[in-house]
Amino acid sequence: MAERQAAVARGLFHVTPIFIAGGCGAVIEDVDGNRLIDFAAGLAVLNVGHLAPEVAEAVRGQSEKFLHACFHVTPYEGYVRLCAALNRLAPGGFPKKSFLANSGAEAVENAVKIARAYTGRPGVVCFEHAFHGRTYMAMTMTAKEKPYKIGFAPFNPGVYRAPFPYCYRWPTGQDPLRVSRECFAAFERLLREEIKPDQVAAVIIEPVLGEGGFVPAPAEFLRLLRTFCGENGIVFIADEVQTGFGRTGGLFACSELGIVPDLMTLAKGLGGGMPISAVVGRAEIMDAPMAGGIGGTFGGNPVSCAAALAVIDLFESGGLLGRARALADKLPARLAALRRFAKVGDIRGLGAMQALELVFDQAGKEPDPETTVKLIRHCYERGLILMSAGTYGNVVRLLMPLGISDAELDEGLAVLEGGLKALAA
Ligand SMILES: Cc1ncc(COP(=O)(O)O)c(C=O)c1O
Repeated sequence: MAERQAAVARGLFHVTPIFIAGGCGAVIEDVDGNRLIDFAAGLAVLNVGHLAPEVAEAVRGQSEKFLHACFHVTPYEGYVRLCAALNRLAPGGFPKKSFLANSGAEAVENAVKIARAYTGRPGVVCFEHAFHGRTYMAMTMTAKEKPYKIGFAPFNPGVYRAPFPYCYRWPTGQDPLRVSRECFAAFERLLREEIKPDQVAAVIIEPVLGEGGFVPAPAEFLRLLRTFCGENGIVFIADEVQTGFGRTGGLFACSELGIVPDLMTLAKGLGGGMPISAVVGRAEIMDAPMAGGIGGTFGGNPVSCAAALAVIDLFESGGLLGRARALADKLPARLAALRRFAKVGDIRGLGAMQALELVFDQAGKEPDPETTVKLIRHCYERGLILMSAGTYGNVVRLLMPLGISDAELDEGLAVLEGGLKALAA
């Protein structure tokens, strides 16, 4: 760690102080030979698990042919096949096109560029508690100031923020229908009083907040928003960077919630551990920028494309979608027992994307980030890697690989429960 402090910039955070030596499925081994159950999955990336053999084989196969070409110089089949697969899998029965980049933030940046090019409008509406990445537009649309925005002003113009339907903390109660109606009324007010709909290119929303604390938007709210966008010529962008690829039970959260976005941003789970991201959506919108307007040197790297095609194959033919669904079905019931701990204010999520929100007491709901830090540390010291989330830093999120075995899941959940017990004592 001393060498790390000396060589690497201070601005990169760590969940654990360990250095990884290897990983397999849902288990990591560190350089000292310790074994840890991984409920972080490389920050929501390794939905297929560490070193999935099919992904590793695809990477090996492609790396023996060519590592890089640049799609702008000599196109290659893997890029086109991956775009075609994403077009087929994304919700919506209309013609679609895709574009590949390297990271979630880059996908988000490009989705906004594409929406602006298509509509000829400048405005973008995002939401409270949102996280869309660390590049300038993505950071501007991200809500939380510390640590994501502090010292980095000025931010991009043309960005407006509406309330997110955070049921647990909604001032008039938690009923999803009422929250949806009231939250949508606030959205409409914003688009009456601060920017007119005909000046808005895009509305961008995470169907389930990721860094914001695993808060699912009620389906009714998303439906109202979707309809409003359709009626006002606004591009509806679903940021599925964290929710995509089986995390919520189905392949995408939008499909689970019955929502068809115009554009969808994907990254993280797409590459099975290789860096790749995508914007997928309506062909006429995706075709708005002129040739050369979007792209990049490394976007859709051939090795990453091969990995992503293997990931898709694992979901479609390798039974991983079934395992994701099984985990999504059993995890909420397993977690429900943790409600008995006074510090657990809320347990929520969509499918296997579940989290615990910790509070000082259940009645007052005051966020308890200190206990959250202690719980994560307690678990890590007993061989379980967990991550926090949330605007108030008081959410423990579960991001295990979707194919985790029952024994590993039991082991991890027992450590979590033991931690809550120890902290309650
Ligand atoms: C919803 C969402 N969008 C965008 C991003 C940014 O992705 P990346 O870190 O790959 O740039 C993240 C990362 O956590 C995310 O959760």
